[in-house]
Amino acid sequence: MIDEILSIVEKQEEWRGKQCLNLIPSENVMSLAVRKLLSSDFGQRYTARDRFYMGAQFTDEIEQCGEKLAKEVFGADTADLRPLSGHIADMIILATFTKPKDILMCISPNVGGYPGMWNEGLAKLLQLKTVPFPFSKHNMNIKVEESKKVIKQLKPKIMIFGASFITFPYPVKELSKIAKENGAIVGYDGSHVLGLIGGKQFQDPLREGVCALFGSTHKSFFGPQGGMVLADREHGEIIKEKIYPTFVDNAHWNRIAALTLALAEMRKFGKAYAGQVVRNSKTLAKALCDYGFPVVCQHLGFTQSHQIILDYGNYKKGRAFAEKLQNSNIIVDCAVRIGTCEVTRHGMKEGEMLKIAELIKRAIIDEEEPEEIRRDIAKLCSTFQEVEYCFA
Ligand SMILES: Cc1ncc(COP(=O)(O)O)c(C=O)c1O
Repeated sequence: MIDEILSIVEKQEEWRGKQCLNLIPSENVMSLAVRKLLSSDFGQRYTARDRFYMGAQFTDEIEQCGEKLAKEVFGADTADLRPLSGHIADMIILATFTKPKDILMCISPNVGGYPGMWNEGLAKLLQLKTVPFPFSKHNMNIKVEESKKVIKQLKPKIMIFGASFITFPYPVKELSKIAKENGAIVGYDGSHVLGLIGGKQFQDPLREGVCALFGSTHKSFFGPQGGMVLADREHGEIIKEKIYPTFVDNAHWNRIAALTLALAEMRKFGKAYAGQVVRNSKTLAKALCDYGFPVVCQHLGFTQSHQIILDYGNYKKGRAFAEKLQNSNIIVDCAVRIGTCEVTRHGMKEGEMLKIAELIKRAIIDEEEPEEIRRDIAKLCSTFQEVEYCFA
């Protein structure tokens, strides 16, 4: 049994870790030092806000250290690293500031919004009425003037920017003020772009008017899987009060220790990392477009984030595309989004993006034998096994 378990893990490490081009924009790779902290003693300890458990002095220290770094990296008054995931961070924000029948204005999943926040997800759980931002699919962005009208007319209780398909900064400045004047709490689900925001290469939601910025810590942000909330003082203190005991009892301190180190990496290397992620996305998007792939938003330079979106019109075609790539060890999702975080973290630059575009073309357009493509990918990946933008 033990052999079987270890062998499964080993196969995963070998295949996804060494043989594949990992291009899912929700994924990233941790530095070895961050990964190591996941197996530290913190992972087997208990704490409670009321000090029920003894032995927590270093847990307190790591929490303070992590929050200090997070506040610095994001320029926030308060930070909380306890949320167990981006989804839980979303739930914390929605549940803290709404009650049943309130209106939640956010981006509809029909145009790339996060389904977990919408009618089958948190909105259903918390009995919120959803109202979509008027949205231009052509520009992959929120329509400002039409949104202003909706805000004035419907006065949402909470308005959340952010989405699962996100290629351009949103008009946060243009809409936050009017939303607040009409009684809304304004938030930004930065699950996808937190690493680009931390690296100062996307937009700066807390300066542009949101009360809270929150989301996953493992997509463009290169920490362990988990969640984080950053906020202004007024709202941050309310959120902190609510987290325990409603959403997190014992926090996962090994993850928080690892996240703290990832925050230190982001503070030092974030700008270089995020800048390269965006340059890589633009290069890969253009090369794919030149081969005839249906990359969206050519008129806007394709993307300003870690994502490249291909429009195959329907899920079935997207799945067929993704499955074909998987046969060649190129891993994307079925939507189809292509992400550049992980390959960037391994040190790939514009030249490698051209090679990746060519490999995708060989798999999809030339319909070359997967075996040959897999061999070339293993060779390419073997020279990019290290993790960069980290200490030592
Ligand atoms: C915009 C957005 N918010 C939240 C989540 C949920 O994040 P997590 O997987 O960390 O719970 C996702 C998931 O992909 C997402 O795209």
